[in-house]
Amino acid sequence: MTPAALITGWGYYVPPKVLTNADLEAMVQTSDAWIYERTGIRERHIVEGDEVTSGMATKAAKEALGRAKVKGEDLDAIIIATTSPDYFLPTAACLVQESLGARKAAVFDLGAACAGFVYGLAIARGLVASGAARKILLVGAETISRFIDWTDRATCVLFGDGAGAVVIEASAAGAGIQSTALHGDGRQKRHLRLEGGGALHPAARRGDDGASDFIQMNGPEVFKLAVPAMADAAKEALAQAGLRLEDVDLFVPHQANARIIEAVAKRLGLDRSKVFIDIDRFGNTSAASIPIALCDAVAQGRVRKGDTLVFAAFGGGMTWGAAVVEWSSPKR
Ligand SMILES: CC(C)(COP(=O)(O)OP(=O)(O)OC[C@H]1O[C@@H](n2cnc3c(N)ncnc32)[C@H](O)[C@@H]1OP(=O)(O)O)[C@@H](O)C(=O)NCCC(=O)NCCS
Repeated sequence: MTPAALITGWGYYVPPKVLTNADLEAMVQTSDAWIYERTGIRERHIVEGDEVTSGMATKAAKEALGRAKVKGEDLDAIIIATTSPDYFLPTAACLVQESLGARKAAVFDLGAACAGFVYGLAIARGLVASGAARKILLVGAETISRFIDWTDRATCVLFGDGAGAVVIEASAAGAGIQSTALHGDGRQKRHLRLEGGGALHPAARRGDDGASDFIQMNGPEVFKLAVPAMADAAKEALAQAGLRLEDVDLFVPHQANARIIEAVAKRLGLDRSKVFIDIDRFGNTSAASIPIALCDAVAQGRVRKGDTLVFAAFGGGMTWGAAVVEWSSPKR
């Protein structure tokens, strides 16, 4: 029988430094009222010094491994979903592997922007189902603040740094990750991009080549694309799992903008009580946002054993997707 892929541990980490909307008022022409009304964000955490993606990922991972009672050396795979790794090489996953002493783990970074965590759930489920791995660490970790133009008010108010991790284990019982729906559309790539530093515009050859080292975004276009994409992916994943919207106990979407989340929930006909939003405290942490929100939801007592959770995300590329997970309680 195909083993189920259960989430047995979870943990998150955000850097201590908090950047409030009031702080941003002193940096660009904006206001707390504009940011909160348009996005739902009050504050976000930002890295300082050398603590970037792999360091935050390691801290989140240790918490998740502790909950799952799994040792680093027992991991078969480490997947780090990120658009902001410490380096191109070594990957963030290699750095996390070293920190955790996860000697036998297969290690790779996954680039699917804000949808990276949902993509990672699909890959982890596949590795478990095929028998290729029994214990997997999946982390969404981002240091987007290093790729933000802090003079561009259209982007700098939106993002935050952080990491969220889950441990996924093969099990003969339980449902775990029940289904995933993944999508992409490169034709829309211009609306959200980070071009500088890649092979076309490598740092060593940079003159005035027109590429930007910062995230560039057409916010309203991303907004319009994100809402139907996330809603449709959630419906698709639910249908694949043989479930209906009425079966959803909690919707834990990517936290890009509270208005996007509310519009997706409205399209789905989900009551607000079944929608988890914590963007006010973290901003958009890209691939880290769903696992951070999941930890937050569990800590707030919003998730119980047997609950049906739906995750949905949309990000640059464009990439998007959804996953349905039956929640299992941690090991005793
Ligand atoms: C970015 C976003 C918050 C902007 O909200 P919006 O309601 O679409 O606002 P607009 O971009 O139309 O801008 C409205 C006005 O506010 C201004 N504005 C933009 N950013 C501002 C800021 N931080 N403070 C004050 N005013 C701002 C604009 O310049 C514009 O002014 P104008 O009317 O004089 O031209 C919203 O489009 C969004 O969240 N999009 C999705 C982005 C996203 O989620 N990206 C990541 C995907 S993973």
